[in-house]
Amino acid sequence: MFTGKRNISQCLRLVEEDQAITSPAAKLPYYPLVVKRGRGAIVEDVDGNTYIDFLASAGAINTGHCHPKVVEAIKKQTEELILYTSVYMYHEPQIDLTRELLAITPGDFRKRAYYGLAGSDANDGIIKLARIATGRPKIVAYLRAYHGSTYGALSMSAVSLPMHRGLGPLLPDIYHVPYPDTYRTPFPGMTEDEVTDFALEQIKIAFTTNIPPDEVAAIVIEPIQGDSGLIVPPVRYMKLLRKLCDDHGILLVSEEVQQGFGRTGKWFGIENFDVVPDAIVMGKAIASGLPLGAVVARAELLEKWQAPAHLFTAAGNPVCCAAALATIDVIREENLLENASRMGEYIKGRFLEMQKRYEIIGDVRGIGLSIGVDLVKDRQTKERHGEAAAKICYRAWERGLLLSFFSGSVLRIQPPLVLTKEQADSALGIIEESFQDFYEGDIPDSIFETVKGW
Ligand SMILES: Cc1ncc(COP(=O)(O)O)c(C=O)c1O
Repeated sequence: MFTGKRNISQCLRLVEEDQAITSPAAKLPYYPLVVKRGRGAIVEDVDGNTYIDFLASAGAINTGHCHPKVVEAIKKQTEELILYTSVYMYHEPQIDLTRELLAITPGDFRKRAYYGLAGSDANDGIIKLARIATGRPKIVAYLRAYHGSTYGALSMSAVSLPMHRGLGPLLPDIYHVPYPDTYRTPFPGMTEDEVTDFALEQIKIAFTTNIPPDEVAAIVIEPIQGDSGLIVPPVRYMKLLRKLCDDHGILLVSEEVQQGFGRTGKWFGIENFDVVPDAIVMGKAIASGLPLGAVVARAELLEKWQAPAHLFTAAGNPVCCAAALATIDVIREENLLENASRMGEYIKGRFLEMQKRYEIIGDVRGIGLSIGVDLVKDRQTKERHGEAAAKICYRAWERGLLLSFFSGSVLRIQPPLVLTKEQADSALGIIEESFQDFYEGDIPDSIFETVKGW
């Protein structure tokens, strides 16, 4: 019987007030946590309770909370200049950042960048850019992908009914094809190669029936499909997709808002597949929590659209750019790519061990510190175990770990990349205790009044 409940009275009071006065449309809560401060991989609530963070603010805090170098860069820049719109003028932090982004993105060709305020509008820009640069109207995206909440990004998304219901009409000429899922395979028992062939075949069938390939501007793919539960595609699929794009003059866009900036142990997730895309979309972790989105693409594409095709007053503002430059420095200086790989392998290994003991762990997958642990009611049918996911996350929070799930049943393991081995061990200990609590029936159904989640 779990007896370690913490005092969360201030949290509860503030949550109640928030729920009474803010729009519910932007809330998918897991537990009543009001965050007060964060340092590294630890956050503290307004009641003074501390938690290890396995969510990193939805993958936006790769350098850890309030990294001193990032804080210093932000402070310094705010004292100098907070905003002068780069639509009309120029500023050094943005020029410096662009130089860095062009250097760290894959592709031995001439590149350029554009900026926005978030992952969503960066994706809207991709739709515009692809259409203008190719003169073709159609975009192919993936079923079960999330690309953001603005109308363009939403039109490319296909992950949640409430996200779409009543909001149409969306952007026309955007099509969705199946992502190659090697766990919940299209037909039972398919091998990785069969999944690859099947998923590519779906595009090829569409190309001979309802989507003329010479009208397709771009295929937009996440190198690991995030919000559907961290689905890792086969390397062969990604390589053949690149070839399919080349065969038809279609742009390949790697949507790295969630997987980019070091999370997979490389700067960008697509580098794990030895594939070079024509454009990379960035957001979330790029500025360690300040609002910034960016796209780096082949220069000749960006040279085809003209002002004012895509601009925002505060996009790429000096403070966010300074934070992004500091973020890049920290990732380099503290070898966070290596740490993401090392910690990721360690955590994945520990979950694979747990899988031998807990029947409900159906699959453990991921690259670097982007790991999904898929909970199932039955390993044969792979039926999602939403109850277990919700209860285990809730209990983990009660025990001092921020753990969340998406796709109804997949534990989301995306801590800051500064996570230490000691923190990983403590967090895994809490997860294991929470599994035991679940097996012993010690987590009440009343948690469902609070837990919504993805
Ligand atoms: C893969 C992916 N793309 C785009 C977005 C949207 O980014 P933002 O919320 O910064 O607009 C998200 C956010 O969760 C995401 O995970």
